[in-house]
Amino acid sequence: MSTDQPSRIQSEVRRRRTFAIISHPDAGKTTLTEKLLLFSGAIQIAGSVKARKASRHATSDWMEIEKQRGISVASSVMQMEYRDCVINLLDTPGHQDFSEDTYRVLTAVDAALMVIDAANGVEPQTRRLLQVCRARNTPILTFVNKMDREVQEPLALMDEIERELGMTVVPFTWPVGMGKHFHGVMDLRQKRMRVFAPGEDRVAGDEEVLDGLDNPAYAERFGMQYENAQGEIELVNEAAPTFDLDDFLNGRQTPMFFGSAVNNFGVQEVLDALVELAPAPAERAAMQRVVQPEEPKFTGVVFKIQANMDPAHRDRIAFLRVASGHFERGMRLKVVRSGKELRPNTVVSFLSQRRELLDEAFAGDIIGIPNHGVLQLGDTITEGEALQYTGLPFFAPEMFRSVEVADPLKTKQLREGLRQLGEEGAIQVFRPEAGSVLLLGAVGQLQFEVVAHRLEHEYNVKARITAARYNVARWVTCDEADGGEKELRRFIDHNAHRVAWDAVNAPTVLLEYAGELRAMQENWPKIKFHALREHA
Ligand code: G4P
Repeated sequence: MSTDQPSRIQSEVRRRRTFAIISHPDAGKTTLTEKLLLFSGAIQIAGSVKARKASRHATSDWMEIEKQRGISVASSVMQMEYRDCVINLLDTPGHQDFSEDTYRVLTAVDAALMVIDAANGVEPQTRRLLQVCRARNTPILTFVNKMDREVQEPLALMDEIERELGMTVVPFTWPVGMGKHFHGVMDLRQKRMRVFAPGEDRVAGDEEVLDGLDNPAYAERFGMQYENAQGEIELVNEAAPTFDLDDFLNGRQTPMFFGSAVNNFGVQEVLDALVELAPAPAERAAMQRVVQPEEPKFTGVVFKIQANMDPAHRDRIAFLRVASGHFERGMRLKVVRSGKELRPNTVVSFLSQRRELLDEAFAGDIIGIPNHGVLQLGDTITEGEALQYTGLPFFAPEMFRSVEVADPLKTKQLREGLRQLGEEGAIQVFRPEAGSVLLLGAVGQLQFEVVAHRLEHEYNVKARITAARYNVARWVTCDEADGGEKELRRFIDHNAHRVAWDAVNAPTVLLEYAGELRAMQENWPKIKFHALREHA
């Protein structure tokens, strides 16, 4: 077929940019997302993304989370076209209790945009997300937001980011003043100044731009703020290294931009940097071989499952990241794990300017396939090749509960409901080696509440979720050289009261205290304890 010629796939892959925005709640992720869509022309009016953000502050209000779950499918992937590039922006759940989901979303992107509130600097949740990016060497662009407020000194911020990230920061712009005296930013590479004016009315191209970094008119117009900025820029020029694309692509350097998302300021620079600097989809490792994105055959991996809102249908949407080839609606695909055939005729539409997203996709794109449980987290989909992508992380839960049914006749429904919720990644379910009460493991408290609510409404099971004494979990393995299966079995038999099996039958030890773990590690030197399990 002419459309499948390698050159077409290659050029489509090259113009893809797939990234996620990471930030601590309230730093401005939603605002910036919206402005990126606005500046690329994907939406006409500001407010459409913001409107869906139902409950920023309702930390324990799971009904709100339920609402969010429903509306967020369409906007969980946003596709825009800008300067001949196709940009896929993946949303990450804002609530920290769902950070597990966020970690998995980060495995589906090629770059991340970190938004920092200039008053607060690097905050706890950003830190955790960054660790995931760092572990994968994901290139990170940094946007320092809210310069229209009284914030920290830019040099101090730069220093803090550098320390927290463990990578070199290279400023691409530098602020002139802040708060009431925020006058704009110096574009250090283009050597010009963009003058700040508050308001949301301006879009691309109608900012006042002054040529040169030390135009004599600046001192008069911007006073002390300009003089300070000038001094800082001199320091930065001396101290900061020059930008090195290779270092950025390997997660050793981050370009830094200053702006004010709510005032549409600094947004264009970020969009331009994404197109110019962020990488196109790269090769991806499977257990069997490394796959190139421009290979003609389609392959993809499920990184997120989202239950649909209609409890009667119990259908789910699997989010696939295309890893190679050309996806077309109605093509014959195979779920490698189960060998089942899949023929997606309906694909979920995301917020997009491009109608053809529904009909075709290339490496870097995300497709949403509705299904009834055929697709699971971590599944690899191909045109027939036996291939399994690696790297989808599951984190050791930090909170545990026991779960039982109020009505013993509903035991089967409970197990079925938990199996499905577990497959979706909403919760981790453990079956103890000794005893019959199932255990739930979560990263955030809210996960338990959502599970109880969904068991009742979607599976018609009233579950009794009660405290469990565990606080620490580790997956256990044993290398062949250390005795392999046999040694692992010996460990499990010795510790039967502390061992449980997870959804894919991986053995896990559950402990009360971190100290116990240390003791156990000393007593069992041949056993490996893992805080992270990669789906394989
Ligand atoms: P999030 O998705 O990261 O949680 O943050 P979000 O965009 O919702 O922004 C959090 C708050 O910060 C919002 O105010 C938003 O308007 C404000 N904000 C975002 N960018 C800027 C900026 O550049 N300057 C200033 N001063 N504020 C900014 P809010 O009062 O919580 O909500 P709203 O009533 O404005 O919607």
